[in-house]
Amino acid sequence: MARRLTPNPGLHVIMVLALIACSSQLLVDANSWWSLAMSPIQRPELFIIGAQPLCSTLTGLSQGQRKLCQLYQDHMVHIGEGAKTGINECAYQFRERRWNCSTVDNSSVFGRVLQTGSRETAFTYAISAAGVVNAVSRACREGELSTCGCSRASRPSDLPRDWLWGGCGDNVHYGYRFAREFVDAREREKNYPRGSAEHARTLMNLQNNEAGRQAVYNQANVACKCHGVSGSCSLKTCWLQLADFRRVGEFLKEKYDSATAMRIGRRSKLEQVNNRFNPPTADDLVYIDPSPDYCLRNQSTGSLGTHGRLCNKTSEGMDGCELMCCGRGYDQFKTVKHERCHCKFHWCCYVKCRRCTSLVDQFVCK
Ligand SMILES: *[C@@H]1O[C@H](CO)[C@@H](O)[C@H](O)[C@H]1NC(C)=O
Ligand SMILES: *[C@@H]1O[C@H](CO)[C@@H](O)[C@H](O)[C@H]1NC(C)=O
Ligand SMILES: *[C@@H]1O[C@H](CO)[C@@H](O)[C@H](O)[C@H]1NC(C)=O
Ligand SMILES: *[C@@H]1O[C@H](CO)[C@@H](O)[C@H](O)[C@H]1NC(C)=O
Repeated sequence: MARRLTPNPGLHVIMVLALIACSSQLLVDANSWWSLAMSPIQRPELFIIGAQPLCSTLTGLSQGQRKLCQLYQDHMVHIGEGAKTGINECAYQFRERRWNCSTVDNSSVFGRVLQTGSRETAFTYAISAAGVVNAVSRACREGELSTCGCSRASRPSDLPRDWLWGGCGDNVHYGYRFAREFVDAREREKNYPRGSAEHARTLMNLQNNEAGRQAVYNQANVACKCHGVSGSCSLKTCWLQLADFRRVGEFLKEKYDSATAMRIGRRSKLEQVNNRFNPPTADDLVYIDPSPDYCLRNQSTGSLGTHGRLCNKTSEGMDGCELMCCGRGYDQFKTVKHERCHCKFHWCCYVKCRRCTSLVDQFVCK
């Protein structure tokens, strides 16, 4: 069933850089709100009695994010969870690629790779922003946050008339808006000269953050439950529900594959490098730099290289030894694999298996 909730029109405002008057930190700040995914954030109630305020103990927040932290302390744990969900999904989607979402330096979550405005960086921003929308929307529904509750999305016009619209839905509207405030804050605080490389990167980040948020927003859908006498389903209650985050990951992975190369153009806006393609829309990913070579380890780009990676000898895809090992060849190992086997169903009702071990070949890049 199709649902149309149009993101609110203020959305385009993000492209306008608010010139916040704070001294610009020109250090390469490694987007470290993601580090919230790593530090276990304690529940704010623990901080009420304690002397230490939550927001000053969290590292990696920009000035604006710290202010939001003070106003919305109970949101922080969910932002951390959202970032973690995003990072895990990134690792899953890229498990068979040369760049698999892990990095050399762990001072920030993704390390140096993100200093390049590459496709991989675009995906990382999008999936993290998506993780935050997802986590906050759900937290609203679960009553974990003081400033939001169940979704108040209006009844879809195409819902059959005798179905009830109610139930407590995921509040994607709130999740989307909060994530926009929080995640984009650090980009909007920057005050780079218009048309500079840093400005281009800021515009790139904002576009990809938005694409990630929209992926969650647009994929939330209507879910329904039957009621009625003895399962007759004479009555249905429906509500708004987040899509499984795996689907969001798959969707953004496709956007990664079709990401658009951009450059800073006249009037200090991003424009397409190649005009033969359709221009990107707000839910597309964009990048401004070519990807570094992920074949070899390189401290300065943050690439880990593919030495030591497992590959598949028979696959012709990216996980195949030829591509994964960048033509360097591979070593073969035998490893012992433990499996459940000879499983038998016993009446009634359990399954009994034996444990089998077998030798399997594994291939590892040189
Ligand atoms: C990376 O992590 C390891 C182990 O957790 C730690 O010993 C090391 O200091 C970290 N490096 C940086 C740059 O943070
Ligand atoms: C690391 O990458 C940079 C930038 O692409 C390149 O200039 C440099 O030669 C590389 N270093 C090594 C050791 O491959
Ligand atoms: C990702 O790549 C790194 C470096 O090549 C490797 O150490 C790590 O095991 C890989 N992770 C997964 C899940 O394959
Ligand atoms: C290796 O790739 C082939 C072909 O894509 C596939 O059928 C097979 O299941 C893969 N093996 C492993 C261990 O993933």
